[in-house]
Amino acid sequence: MNWIKIMSNDVLEAENFIRLIRVDGKKICLVKVGDEFFATQNRCPHAGADLSLGICKDKKLICSFHRYEYDLKTGRGAAGQGDYLNIYPIKKEEDGLYVGFKDKWAFIRKFFQYGITGN
Ligand code: FES
Repeated sequence: MNWIKIMSNDVLEAENFIRLIRVDGKKICLVKVGDEFFATQNRCPHAGADLSLGICKDKKLICSFHRYEYDLKTGRGAAGQGDYLNIYPIKKEEDGLYVGFKDKWAFIRKFFQYGITGN
């Protein structure tokens, strides 16, 4: 997992918010609810709207276009939608907030490290 710092501690004290942030070439929707933070893809899977323009209610992110709802913990769409959001892990450190991305190259590195035979 690659952890990338996205905010310093002074910003973490802000009121609840929904923000678009750009991290590692990706657009991420960052949501603060109380003391919790959630990071999701920013593009709505229904028709591509900007989720950072949506609203948050009961830890569900509601898209501003057609009101589809997504659970911020699991990414699941509401019953009957049949879709989901990518959720990215968040961790708080002494110097700020970090979001984690899977290491895209881990498989390739492992492949070359152990080779085809696995020796
Ligand atoms: S684009 Fe988000 S609900 Fe339709």
